Amino acid sequence: MTNNSPYADRRARLAAQLGAGGIAIVPTAPERQRNRDSDYLFRHDSYFFYLTGFTEPNAWLVLEGNGRSTLFCAPKDLEREIWDGYRLGPEAAPHALGVDAAWSIDELDKQMPRLLENREVVWYNFATHKGLETRVDQWLQTVRARVRYGAICPEEQRDLCGPLDEMRLVKDAHELDVMRKAAAISAKAHIRAMKLSANMLRKGDDVREYHLDAELLHEFRLNGSQYPAYGSIVAAGANACVLHYRADVAPVKDGDLVLIDAGCELDGYASDITRTFPANGRFTGPQRALYDLVLASQDAAVAATKAGARFTDPHEATVKVLAQGLLDLKILDAKKLGTAEDVIEQRAYFPFYMHRTGHWLGMDVHDCGSYVEPSQIGETSERKDPLSGETITNRPSRILRPGMVLTIEPGLYVRPTEGVPDEFWNLGIRIEDDAVVTETGCELISRGVPVKADEIEALMKA
Ligand code: GLY
Ligand code: MN
Ligand code: MN
Repeated sequence: MTNNSPYADRRARLAAQLGAGGIAIVPTAPERQRNRDSDYLFRHDSYFFYLTGFTEPNAWLVLEGNGRSTLFCAPKDLEREIWDGYRLGPEAAPHALGVDAAWSIDELDKQMPRLLENREVVWYNFATHKGLETRVDQWLQTVRARVRYGAICPEEQRDLCGPLDEMRLVKDAHELDVMRKAAAISAKAHIRAMKLSANMLRKGDDVREYHLDAELLHEFRLNGSQYPAYGSIVAAGANACVLHYRADVAPVKDGDLVLIDAGCELDGYASDITRTFPANGRFTGPQRALYDLVLASQDAAVAATKAGARFTDPHEATVKVLAQGLLDLKILDAKKLGTAEDVIEQRAYFPFYMHRTGHWLGMDVHDCGSYVEPSQIGETSERKDPLSGETITNRPSRILRPGMVLTIEPGLYVRPTEGVPDEFWNLGIRIEDDAVVTETGCELISRGVPVKADEIEALMKA
């Protein structure tokens, strides 16, 4: 890897924010035991990967304010490599990863105090990595023990999440390229699951949620994705009203809707797509009415997503459309509640739409990055929540910038409720796409899978 790699570029940009006397410590994720001698599948730490591109366990990056980088990694060991697999090793790391120096991980406790000596500020990610504070403390104790020999011990510790989260929030060209590919694979996987559902029902098969889950996994792996970016939700019928349902064994019945929220992770980057479709390929009247309402609310949110808008603007646009639609469909009673503005004012839509319309997306499915606008920190206003009666402190929502990536995922979930027409009972609908913010709007990178009801029906035809 050359020093022109995106990782070297990110290290240089981060180093410039550490200050001349600053030093940053970034470990990768720990390996986790599943039972006895079996571990959970290893997944690197996102911050560490962002700065190195290195996916082996047992590795740490140290970055100094002058830009110098040091990697600690597992040493070459033929026996361990025979059992566990290839290791890059510290000898090859500088050339392969573009770091300035590399040590065996066995040297960590010896070298780290030396690296920390005579620095002013130690940076590491707070509250992300269990036990990291204790490790840093131990190394600083070793430095402190040398103070009487003239060593200077850093006096300040700072949260590296501050600068790193801001960097990760705005994706660079390399990241956008991978994210487009991840979303395209996930879109194909959704199409595959939709088709299987209708085809199996046409044949009279006993379709289960796990059959559709298997299609998703197949398409992810077929295209080189390492694993799902999060536990796939495959929810048939009323299960769609359980927001964090997981693909299970429930039957997928003719006449049901199926909600699939699934996205692959590709080379460290998540995608996050939800589609809701009729199991047999044809929407009923009430299903279609509710579906078209959610889609209209998503259209409004998409139109509100552009550079200069606030993160909350798509949510507000969604809620306006849903509030009016819930009144029109008589799911909410206009005689009791009044207009759409009144519904919003009283948050009366909340029993049917109880989540936000999106979140940042990146290496993590719920990616890092502040949702509060940094240039307006300290500006607050208060309002009383109409449902709980609590006083809520509002902070100015983040202003969107080109290169930020967020999901747009409105939904409606209608549990059996007195006063609500029973034709809508047990319908759960969510439509979720992944949007890259541009100067003039947003690029939906997940639209490889259709979203219009007619197009979904067309693709599910025999
Ligand atoms: N799949 C998680 C989410 O949509 O936020
Ligand atoms: Mn999401
Ligand atoms: Mn999702």
